Amino acid sequence: MKTEPNQALRISSLFAGYGRFDVVRDISLRIEEGEAVALLGPNGAGKTTVLRAIMGLVKHRRGTIQVFGTEISALPTHRIASGYAAIAPEGRRLFLDQSVEDNLMLGALHLRRDKARVQALIESVYELFPVLLDYRRRRSAFLSGGEQQMVAIGRMLMSDPQVLLLDEPSVALSPVAVDIVVKALLELRKRGASLLLVEQRIDVAVRICDRLYIMTHGEIVDEMNPDTIGHEGIGMINKYLG
Ligand SMILES: Nc1ncnc2c1ncn2[C@@H]1O[C@H](COP(=O)(O)OP(=O)(O)OP(=O)(O)O)[C@@H](O)[C@H]1O
Ligand SMILES: [Mg+2]
Repeated sequence: MKTEPNQALRISSLFAGYGRFDVVRDISLRIEEGEAVALLGPNGAGKTTVLRAIMGLVKHRRGTIQVFGTEISALPTHRIASGYAAIAPEGRRLFLDQSVEDNLMLGALHLRRDKARVQALIESVYELFPVLLDYRRRRSAFLSGGEQQMVAIGRMLMSDPQVLLLDEPSVALSPVAVDIVVKALLELRKRGASLLLVEQRIDVAVRICDRLYIMTHGEIVDEMNPDTIGHEGIGMINKYLG
């Protein structure tokens, strides 16, 4: 297959699932360099499975996954996580008994010999989320939901990935916290990040993304442009979301 070195992510005809059952069927999607793309769909559509397949956490059965032209689908997760892609997972998955900074540093394990780079990365995370600098020694369990989401995003950034994957970062957050997360993602876009955002909230996806993919029952069924979506398009997505 022809490689596209300017595409941050290119997934072609991906089949993935658990046991012998494919929950993701024939998915193809792309993220151009510096683009933000949303994957919207109802509960159980397979959105998280797509992200986990990119990270090598779910075995893909067929198809290709490329990051800037490099095929990553045969790589083990620790290789994928060492600069190709990183995820802020569903449920955040922090080590709650560890400090904020320890959680952040876990993202940079593969860089630990390059102290200057790790230092620059953590400074940029604290610049993005200044509250985390104040709380860096605090146990993560003592943070609010919004602050924990900032740590999950910060940990993802600490691996200096070429593609950012975010699994419902707005879920269960207050309106103020959602706003902070949205602004941070817009700031990352300004810095040139390429990102794939799984969301249930259309308004959040529309504020951040250049394109929206709609996924139901393991398949991508539609692609929309948020700039021209209108009320009709939003109504259609709401129908898909059930
Ligand atoms: N570890 C697993 N083993 C078996 N089946 C699973 C596993 N994880 C998810 N599934 C099934 O795969 C399907 C897709 O799940 P997935 O978590 O990808 O959906 P989702 O779109 O992320 O949903 P949600 O919006 O609820 O997070 C569901 O039917 C789910 O029950
Ligand atoms: Mg999910």
